[in-house]
Amino acid sequence: MAITTRITDSEEHVHSTFGSRYVRDPLPRFKMPEKSIPKDAAYQIINDELMLDGNPRLNLASFVTTWMEPECEKLIMASINKNYVDMDEYPVTTELQNRCVNMIAHLFNAPVGENESAVGVGTVGSSEAIMLAGLAFKRKWQQRRRAEGKPCDKPNIVTGANVQVCWEKFARYFEVELKEVKLQEGYYVMDPRKAVEMVDENTICVAAILGSTLTGEFEDVKLLNELLMQKNAQTGWDTPIHVDAASGGFIAPFLTPELEWDFRLPLVKSINVSGHKYGLVYAGVGWVIWRTKDDLPDDLVFHINYLGADQPTFTLNFSKGSSQIIAQYYQFIRLGFEGYKGIMENCMENARVLKEGIEQTGKFEVLSKDVGVPLVAFMLKDSSKHTVFDIAESLRRFGWIVPAYTMPADAQHIAVLRVVVREDFNRSLAMRLVSNIEKVLGELEARASRISVIAATVTKVAGEEKQVVKKTVEQIQEEVTRHWKKFVKGKNTGVC
Ligand SMILES: Cc1ncc(COP(=O)(O)O)c(C=O)c1O
Repeated sequence: MAITTRITDSEEHVHSTFGSRYVRDPLPRFKMPEKSIPKDAAYQIINDELMLDGNPRLNLASFVTTWMEPECEKLIMASINKNYVDMDEYPVTTELQNRCVNMIAHLFNAPVGENESAVGVGTVGSSEAIMLAGLAFKRKWQQRRRAEGKPCDKPNIVTGANVQVCWEKFARYFEVELKEVKLQEGYYVMDPRKAVEMVDENTICVAAILGSTLTGEFEDVKLLNELLMQKNAQTGWDTPIHVDAASGGFIAPFLTPELEWDFRLPLVKSINVSGHKYGLVYAGVGWVIWRTKDDLPDDLVFHINYLGADQPTFTLNFSKGSSQIIAQYYQFIRLGFEGYKGIMENCMENARVLKEGIEQTGKFEVLSKDVGVPLVAFMLKDSSKHTVFDIAESLRRFGWIVPAYTMPADAQHIAVLRVVVREDFNRSLAMRLVSNIEKVLGELEARASRISVIAATVTKVAGEEKQVVKKTVEQIQEEVTRHWKKFVKGKNTGVC
């Protein structure tokens, strides 16, 4: 219902929003306002406040897509009012999601025949996909344990300590113990040998990451599969593997097709991928694919009968938008294998240029590898004068959003900067970023030498007495790092 109000004061004659009272009054923040305001005033006020957000294109913290073709944006806007869950009303949208599931399953080498339907579902992102995959593993494990007359109240999952926070969420929300393989300096992914050692009869699955969030490195799923097959044969257990291919799922098939990480490996039972990362769709779409029907327990699936055909659904939420699914299908048919390959090659090449520029400064050690997600993760060789957190903050001045964070256990003492190279981060932006990093380094070094003499002597007034406390530059640096760490709480804050 449209709401109309009669404007009684003189404002009806004031045509400029900026000349009206709406821009003078503070906006309500806690309670809904009593009165309506004109639509142009509402638009202007909100739009203006949003100007203070960062520029998404310069947000190098995120893997999530920040640019799409205008033709696809048109499709997105045209379907913005379609609730995905209304399958009766929007059967074509449902059909497009099914086509996407099939295409991704084939890309990941699922054992499905030419005209057979793959098993999978569209989600809001990889987090929901991981919750669903984790639930399927938990339920399958419980069923097996019950059938064997064994207890099933202490499930656990084995991952590297480098997993994204969504795995912690899964563990906490669905009461599964998270057993993390610790990292070490110089080795920032899950070691498959240590992971397999941690597996016991209560392990519902081992989760490997194709494209660690922290460094982009691909974990060795093939070795994990081999070692776990041996352990399963020795113990009689049947521990499966899930691959979290949130970022790498749309990179490896195009750039390293010979790399075996997917359903070619027999223990890989499910894979998630974010459509909104290198699937090249705006935020709000992920996918989970199961190897076969048997890997998804039927009692978790709800069956909706739309237009006479069975539509299995397995999601955490009911309503959601359709636009992202439609956009994913657009990208698949618009780009095809050829287009995705070209874009991923470009991203890798831009990441290489950026990496070289960063190395040439002589100040950083690059931790990311040449094979993996196109990103550059790098640490300062010498943090005695300034930290990566200082660099991240200084780069904001140029508009760049580059996250700095410390590694998880047992490599917490390593602090890195990470630049994600997306489709829309081109060569000239890469070169400009390098020159801005050089500028920031120069400024920080000049500042450090200016203040080092002063900072070494901190005068502290205690009561009447003047007490002189000497601090070394290292101590001051440690304090700065400690201060920053307060903002970097928990796992991977600020990176996604
Ligand atoms: C390896 C990995 N898994 C899962 C996620 C969560 O993905 P989403 O943001 O699609 O929920 C991320 C996000 O960056 C990730 O890097």
